[in-house]
Amino acid sequence: AAWRATVLTLFPDMFPGPLGASLAGRALTGGLWALETRDIRASATDRHRSVDDTPAGGGPGMVLRADILAAAIDAAAVAPDRPRLLMSPRGRPLTQARVLELAAGPGPLIVCGRFEGIDQRVIEARALEEVSIGDYVLSGGEIAAMALIDACVRLLPGVMGKQASGTEESFSAGLLEYPQYTRPQEFEGRQIPEVLISGDHAKVAAWRLAQSEALTAARRPDLWAGKADRTKKATDG
Ligand code: ADE
Repeated sequence: AAWRATVLTLFPDMFPGPLGASLAGRALTGGLWALETRDIRASATDRHRSVDDTPAGGGPGMVLRADILAAAIDAAAVAPDRPRLLMSPRGRPLTQARVLELAAGPGPLIVCGRFEGIDQRVIEARALEEVSIGDYVLSGGEIAAMALIDACVRLLPGVMGKQASGTEESFSAGLLEYPQYTRPQEFEGRQIPEVLISGDHAKVAAWRLAQSEALTAARRPDLWAGKADRTKKATDG
């Protein structure tokens, strides 16, 4: 497979996990992408295979050692053109724009954080790009890595069929998706909106855009402000 994710983790048994099912799983079996999982603990040096130690300066929890993680990264021997990511709640928030870039490239090395943190020096020395999947704290980077990989894999050539990219286009344009309906025509007294069964494609498109805009303005003022900015810039020339 051309696109590959190399995952460094203390819990290799978590993979492929959900990435082995459904769309991503079928694409994995079909050779449309590859998953390489590497156990950070394999780079431990002492008899007890320890990978962490107490934080300098004191405080609770344990910190992943710089030397062990650096050895694990180096042993993975990933090509220098591949992005090196560290899943972390203090990373830059993942966006669909970054997902599109990652899917278009050779595929990332992804370090999954654990414990209270990772020695800052290895983040700097191996130029790890910290990536967050949202403003909440997971118990480790593994589920975050799976979310990132899933978002990339569904964009790879041949993974999705024709249904590919309506949602991408609207999301990338900074809008939330409009509501969808299917049969039955009536559900618990609720009807499918008239316009959708009118057969007037222009009216349907206009209704969907209006719905997307209203939803975005109500739920995501951050996205809505960004969209307004871009429209203004485009209009201003
Ligand atoms: N590890 C723990 N929480 C995380 C988050 N929100 N995003 C990415 N990695 C994480």
